[in-house]
Amino acid sequence: MEKRHLGLKIIIAAAVIIAAVALIGGFIGGDLMYHLENRDKIGPLTRSDIEYLNVAAPTATSKDGTVNAADWAEIYPYIVATMGDNAKNSYVTSYLEEDPYLVNIYEGYGFAKDYGSARGHEYTLEDVAATERPHPNANCLTCKTPNFAKLVNDLGVSVYKMPFDEVMAMMEENISCYTCHGNEAGNAGKLVVTHSYVTKALGDNVSTFDPATVSCGQCHIEYYFTVENAETMMPYSSLETMTPEAILAYYDSIGNKDGGVGFYDWIQPGTGTPMLKAQHPEFETFSHGKHAALLNCADCHMPMEMAEDGTVYHSHILVSPLENETLLESCAACHQDTDMVTFVHRLQDRVTARETEVGNKLSDLKDALTAAVEAGKLTEAELDAVRKLHREAQWFFDFCYVENAEGAHNSELAFRCLDTSEQKIDEAMALLNA
Ligand code: HEC
Ligand code: HEC
Ligand code: HEC
Ligand code: HEC
Repeated sequence: MEKRHLGLKIIIAAAVIIAAVALIGGFIGGDLMYHLENRDKIGPLTRSDIEYLNVAAPTATSKDGTVNAADWAEIYPYIVATMGDNAKNSYVTSYLEEDPYLVNIYEGYGFAKDYGSARGHEYTLEDVAATERPHPNANCLTCKTPNFAKLVNDLGVSVYKMPFDEVMAMMEENISCYTCHGNEAGNAGKLVVTHSYVTKALGDNVSTFDPATVSCGQCHIEYYFTVENAETMMPYSSLETMTPEAILAYYDSIGNKDGGVGFYDWIQPGTGTPMLKAQHPEFETFSHGKHAALLNCADCHMPMEMAEDGTVYHSHILVSPLENETLLESCAACHQDTDMVTFVHRLQDRVTARETEVGNKLSDLKDALTAAVEAGKLTEAELDAVRKLHREAQWFFDFCYVENAEGAHNSELAFRCLDTSEQKIDEAMALLNA
């Protein structure tokens, strides 16, 4: 059973919140007096209200030895139930219908055929099985299920290249306890990095990030598959090197599947440009944003709740903070009485409008370059100079477009990416029109 308790803790919590608000009061636009240690004093409930259990893990019922959600249900009924609630997040939209220019700029790649918005963690296996994007290798399962992480941990990196269907048949659960806790959830909810490439890429720098942020950063990241063994890998090694500029420089410097220098995901048919496809760099974007030193992903995406029996726990339904009263209340500790829904939506509207503008220009560049290739009047070297700018412009656009918070995690970075993209489009167009 989850530990129960509480009573006058509420009163203490209230006093702490008042103190925290007084401490932080008026800092936005003024001095930032807030430090990471104070994070535990934010919100109606705080981590100090949680009674962390130290219990042995139940016997694993999964074939591979991962203790699954059902195994934990008796010990952590609320956490298991709320994790299951991720099934309620089932809404998807097609980005290709929303932003038709994408079909053109992703031409020749799977994303031009099928690109829907993400939904809850309970759908990962279903969605990877259903996607029309080609997925010959098992590496597509990296971010979908704890059973794949366990397989890599048991057998090593050869697993990434195994046939998708063969490995898929062995997978038992969607993202679950083992993904973020290993089998150690009974050890005060200890967070464990189970995705081996995270520690491979970041090394000792892992400890420079908050564990709860790294927990999500196992998947909500930019990644690539290595040329050597199709292993999932992060293209950086530290906070400093996880910017779009540094990542681009990294991709430019490593080998590609033709044996040349300069990694690419695909060569766009009409233009011949060796393209990169960005993934979903929430970890990178957030880590360079204004909240990075103050909060972790769980602070804004995992509301703390109190059950009827007094148990306080992190809800494991991962929601938008704009759709959850508890999370919205916690913003007030720093943002005071700002209407956060309006504030965030206004910012996202500005970012999305700019995306549409730059995305359409990128599509025009692609058409102009295709025409130039067909016309055959430019030399291969002249075309390559345009292709380089085209590749870079699309990379910066994509790094912003595919980030799931639409600018809310880091609007400065979003605008920087779009401005850089536009600048490179203009330069490329100038070369074509010269
Ligand atoms: C996607 C990652 C993720 C998954 C999956 C996950 N957890 Fe957690 N868990 C977290 C994070 C993040 C925290 C909060 C850490 C913090 O305090 O910042 C947490 C906290 C906890 C805690 C500490 C108590 C609390 O409420 O904060 C326990 C216990 C726990 N999880 C158990 C489980 C169990 C059991 C499962 C499977 C049913 C599970 N978790 C699945 C990421 C995850
Ligand atoms: C094992 C990889 C993995 C980890 C770890 C992980 N996620 Fe996810 N997350 C995904 C995938 C994959 C999807 C998309 C699922 C789908 O659409 O089928 C997703 C979807 C989501 C969504 C829904 C997005 C939408 O548009 O509706 C949210 C919110 C989210 N994750 C937050 C988090 C947070 C917060 C953490 C850390 C506590 C986390 N995730 C950890 C892989 C992961
Ligand atoms: C300061 C609060 C805050 C923190 C901390 C934070 N986010 Fe977010 N996140 C937001 C907001 C605001 C949105 C936009 C929600 C919306 O559009 O409804 C968002 C959106 C998202 C989405 C898309 C969800 C959806 O429903 O569309 C994902 C996925 C996500 N964040 C993951 C993360 C990850 C991973 C981290 C840590 C690396 C993180 N967030 C840290 C506030 C935060
Ligand atoms: C610990 C204090 C703190 C908490 C709690 C907090 N924020 Fe913030 N937030 C800040 C600071 C500091 C800034 C930067 C303000 C500035 O530059 O003027 C900021 C800025 C923002 C921005 C603009 C980011 C950008 O890059 O333009 C958004 C969006 C935002 N917060 C959303 C939220 C939401 C939603 C919540 C609650 C779920 C929240 N914040 C909770 C401290 C906090």
